[in-house]
Amino acid sequence: MRMTVRDIQKMKTESQPISMLTAYDAISARLAETAGVEMILVGDTLGMVVQGHDSTIPVTLDQMIYHAEIVARVTQKPLIVGDMPFMSVQVSAEQALANCARMMQEARVTCVKVEGGEFMAPTIARLTEAGIPVMAHIGLTPQSVHKFGGFRVQGKEVETAQQVIRDAHAVEDAGAFALVLELTPAPLSQIITERLHIPTIGIGAGRYCDGQVQVFHDILDLYQVFLPKHTKQYAKVGDLILKGIQDFVQEVQKREFPTEKQSFNMNQEELAALRTQLEQDNANGSHPKR
Ligand code: KIV
Repeated sequence: MRMTVRDIQKMKTESQPISMLTAYDAISARLAETAGVEMILVGDTLGMVVQGHDSTIPVTLDQMIYHAEIVARVTQKPLIVGDMPFMSVQVSAEQALANCARMMQEARVTCVKVEGGEFMAPTIARLTEAGIPVMAHIGLTPQSVHKFGGFRVQGKEVETAQQVIRDAHAVEDAGAFALVLELTPAPLSQIITERLHIPTIGIGAGRYCDGQVQVFHDILDLYQVFLPKHTKQYAKVGDLILKGIQDFVQEVQKREFPTEKQSFNMNQEELAALRTQLEQDNANGSHPKR
């Protein structure tokens, strides 16, 4: 049985830490599920770690739906969160309803994630009233990276911290079932986590959140462009893959691959008959001689 938003909320009331990992394809989704994460986020970080852009802004709704459909289809247990990309929900509540409906109907995800605090609260209220569970996302919202002037920690001063707190309350009051807190100081995340009834899921938000989310490629050393301070590399898979590919290239160059083991043979009689046939064809001139 797939996890529900209520299961996730219950984990907060029972003080059970929640783990969420991003995944974008069948391999990453199956690995995340087997490892036991409660939620998989099909995040628009795919713009950076899969598509190679320097931000998430170029990612389109069609691309998000394409990846989310794969992840939802190949998994059974984790709650699947479909990330709503840049400007897919900000133009109007009507646009948000139509686009989130596409995400749910075409990708078959259980819920959506929407970036933005106070200003997105009316839209979050419309979505939840219409039956679409929303995970909110505040603090550093990567789709607004150019407004922030970079991937910077948010809420370090009293005034900005109060704005983050207002954002958190606004999205909870609007009906969000959970909240991603990105790049906020640990003490501020703790205050928010204590004040809210809904679970907080942190990324670069310290240890006091109700759960943690990380990017698949970051924790496995697969991104290799830069390593955010908030991440930890649990396995050096990138180096392993590189070594594997280098070995392949070398063996091909030295004609050591493939060997008999990776090849397919032919019945000797069939082969002899083929050779005779080819010789006859050559003799008759029905094939160009080689
Ligand atoms: O798109 C994403 O992967 C995210 C996480 C960084 C929370 O929004």
